[in-house]
Amino acid sequence: MTTEQFEDIGIRFDPMDPGQAEVRYEFWAEAREHQPVFYSEKYDVWFVTRSDDIEAAMKDTQRFTNGSVFDPAKPWPPEVQAVLDRGYPWRYFLGNNDPPEHTPLKRAVSKAFSRSQTRAMEARVREIANGLIDGFVDEGMVDIGERLAWPFPALVVVDVLGFPQEDVEQLKQWGDDWVSLFSDSLSTEELVAAAEQFVAFQNYVLDAFREREREPREDLLSHLIRELHDDPELNLGLEEIVNVPINIMTAGHATGTLLMLEELTELLGDPELMREVRSDPENIPALVEESLRYEAPVHGLFRTTKAEVEMGGVTIPEGAHVLLCYASANHDPCRFHDPEKFDIHRADVDKHLGFGKGTHYCPGAQIARLEQGIAIELMLERCPNLRLVPDRPPERLQHFWLRGYQSLWVRWDPATAASAA
Ligand code: HEM
Repeated sequence: MTTEQFEDIGIRFDPMDPGQAEVRYEFWAEAREHQPVFYSEKYDVWFVTRSDDIEAAMKDTQRFTNGSVFDPAKPWPPEVQAVLDRGYPWRYFLGNNDPPEHTPLKRAVSKAFSRSQTRAMEARVREIANGLIDGFVDEGMVDIGERLAWPFPALVVVDVLGFPQEDVEQLKQWGDDWVSLFSDSLSTEELVAAAEQFVAFQNYVLDAFREREREPREDLLSHLIRELHDDPELNLGLEEIVNVPINIMTAGHATGTLLMLEELTELLGDPELMREVRSDPENIPALVEESLRYEAPVHGLFRTTKAEVEMGGVTIPEGAHVLLCYASANHDPCRFHDPEKFDIHRADVDKHLGFGKGTHYCPGAQIARLEQGIAIELMLERCPNLRLVPDRPPERLQHFWLRGYQSLWVRWDPATAASAA
C-alpha cells in the first residue's frame, strides 16, 4: 500500500458504527501493521493497538494515569455537579486511581478474592447457578443472556458483597445510572436524574457499611471496613470508601454476561469443540481463557497521558485520552501464534489481557473464572443436546469499550419432553 492510497484509520474507524462490528479485528490488524497508534478526532481518543506498546503503557503509571478515567468528556452542567457534590468523594474507585492511593484499596479487594477465598465461595456460586437453571430447565428454549448470563454474575457479586439478593435489580439500575452520567446524549434534566440516583446508590452503600460497623458479618462489606476503615494507618472514613463496592458491583457484572455468551457461542458453533468439552470437562477452564483472549469483553480501557509520549511512531500529547486496545493485543501475532484461530489447546492460553495486567489487573479474575466454569459445566449437564437456535442470531451490544453479545437463544431437549417421547 502506498502512502497516497492509505487513508488514516482514525478517520475510517468508528467503534460505535454497527456496520463495522464484524470487521473490528481487521481494523486492529491493519492498525498494528500500518498505524499502531492512531487518533480519532470524532471521539478525541488515541487508540494503542500493539501488544508491546499496550504492556508498556500499563506498566508506566507515571505517564499513563488512571486518575481521570471517570472524568466526563466535558464538565457536567452546574446543576449536575451540585447533585454529585451532595454525595461522597469521587476519588476512591479503584479504576480511577493510581499508586500510592490505589495500593491499599487494591490490596483489600484482592485479599477478599484470593484463590483460597474464592474456592470457599464455590458451593454458594454453584447454588446460585443451579437456582437460576431450575427456573428454566423445563422450558427447552430460552434467551440464555436474559435467563442466566445476565442474572448469574450479578447475583454472585451482590451475594459476595453482602447485599440482599432481592435488591439486585435496583443495584443494576443504579449501576446503569452511573454509566449514563458519562453519556453525551443526555439532557441536563436526565443527567441530574442520573446523578440523584448515583447519590442514592452511595447512600445505600453507606447505610450498609454502618450496619456492618455495628454488627460485622461474613461478607465483603465487613472485610472492607476491617481493611480500610479500622486500619489505624489508613483510617479511611466510611464515606470515603463507598465507591469501592460500587466499583466492584459495576465491574463484575456486564463483563461476566458478555464472557458467558461468548463461550457458549464458540462452544455451540463448533461440534468438534463441543465433543471435546463434553467428553472431558477438564477442558472448560481453557475454553474460558481462550474466550477471554479471542473476544475480550473489556475490549480496551482508558488512560490519560501525564506527559507527551512517543509511541508507535507518533507523539501523543499530554492530557490525551488513550484507549489501550486489549483485544488487539490478544490478536497480535507477536504475542499469539495463529491468533485468529480459536484454540483451547494453545500453550499460552492464559497469557491474554482479558483481565488486564499489572497495577489494575482485575481482582475479580478468580471468581469470574469460577462462575464461568460452573455455568458452562451445569448448562452442559442439565440441558441435554444444547444447541443454538438458527433463526435467532445473537444480538450484539453497542458499546465503546465493552464487546460481545447481550442475547443468545439456545434450545435443548428437556428431560420431561425426552421421557414423554
Ligand atoms: C469475565 C469477567 C471479567 C472481566 C473480563 C474483567 C476484566 C477486567 C479488566 C480488563 C480490568 C482491568 C482494567 C484496567 O486495565 O484498567 C478489570 C478491573 C477490575 N475488575 Fe474485572 N473483570 C471481570 C470480572 C470482575 C469481577 C467478578 C469483579 C468483582 C467481583 C471485578 C472487579 C474489578 C475491579 C474492582 C477492577 C478495577 C481494578 C483496578 O483498577 O485496580 N471484575 N476487570
